Amino acid sequence: MQCRIKIGCFEAEHEAWELFGNIRGAGDNNEKCGHLERLEGAKEGLTLLKGDLLDPDSLFAAIDGCSGVFHMACPVPSYTSTNPEVEVLSHAIKGTLNVLEACKNSKVKRIVMTSSVAAMAFDLHKPKDTPLDESCWSDEDYLRESNHWYMLGKTMGEKAAWDYSQKNGLDLVVICPSLVLGSLLQASPNTSSLVVLKLLNGSSDSYENSSVGVVDVKDVANAHLLAYETKSASGRYLCRNKTVTRAQMIEIIRRLHPDYTLPTRMIEPQISLSMAKEFSQKIVNELGLKYTPVETTIKETVESLKEKGLF
Ligand SMILES: NC(=O)c1ccc[n+]([C@@H]2O[C@H](COP(=O)([O-])OP(=O)(O)OC[C@H]3O[C@@H](n4cnc5c(N)ncnc54)[C@H](OP(=O)(O)O)[C@@H]3O)[C@@H](O)[C@H]2O)c1
Repeated sequence: MQCRIKIGCFEAEHEAWELFGNIRGAGDNNEKCGHLERLEGAKEGLTLLKGDLLDPDSLFAAIDGCSGVFHMACPVPSYTSTNPEVEVLSHAIKGTLNVLEACKNSKVKRIVMTSSVAAMAFDLHKPKDTPLDESCWSDEDYLRESNHWYMLGKTMGEKAAWDYSQKNGLDLVVICPSLVLGSLLQASPNTSSLVVLKLLNGSSDSYENSSVGVVDVKDVANAHLLAYETKSASGRYLCRNKTVTRAQMIEIIRRLHPDYTLPTRMIEPQISLSMAKEFSQKIVNELGLKYTPVETTIKETVESLKEKGLF
């Protein structure tokens, strides 16, 4: 979703924002928009517009007149694409450049873009325990050779964004979240919530005990707001709370729901996203982001998947 913001009236000490969400299915797809239209305050402050990253006119129509843009849209496939140049890379790279061009033409003051830890953490040339920070970039050659198309798209898309912004004098701030979990707004699971859903839906009695950096969806949303509102915000921000193994996730769920059937047979992991043991705290130090405890994030993910009848 793209959000366009017009900062207008003031309420007490808080600015009231007029929000415009640019969505592919707006107008004709209730599953994509219903949960957004039902949000508190949406009737008064949120307008959903039809738009596609690959359709520059639709982006310009949404962005023109806005003070700020949150560029979040990008395909996050849960399968290996057979046509990645078209299905993944074009949206991640050309789509991002289309957004930035519309921002330039509309004289947008600040753009906050959602990149990913995927654009940072995959560099097998680095020593395994190198701290992960905002100077790190994933290795494009490795990602292409290993068919990690989503990660390649995020890496190339973010690099293209920096290049375009620097050449055109745009104020870009980038948030790089790790695996995002927590309450879902929409009815169907997105790719990241499948990580937890697979433990709950009885699809397997075994699990690969890989580690993953987890962050709560509400903290990611807050990070975007802080990046927009903090004048001094600049550059990239890793947004990652804690490393959690699948065994630890299962343990947290078992403590909360001893009656659930969870996988019991552990398999040693083949590859893990990042071997780093230290992670940049720039987002905490510069933007003041506070992380939700990871137990709460897992609990809310499970409760949300249950409430939506997904297991
Ligand atoms: N979830 C995570 O763990 C995680 C971690 C790091 C970064 N991120 C980033 O966070 C952002 C949101 O991801 P998510 O996890 O919330 O996934 P998601 O639910 O699949 O959201 C991706 C959104 O992008 C939209 N989109 C894709 N291509 C588009 C296009 N050409 N034009 C307009 N909209 C398009 C999709 O629209 P449709 O519904 O129409 O396909 C969908 O609404 C992405 O940039 C992702 O890379 C996610």
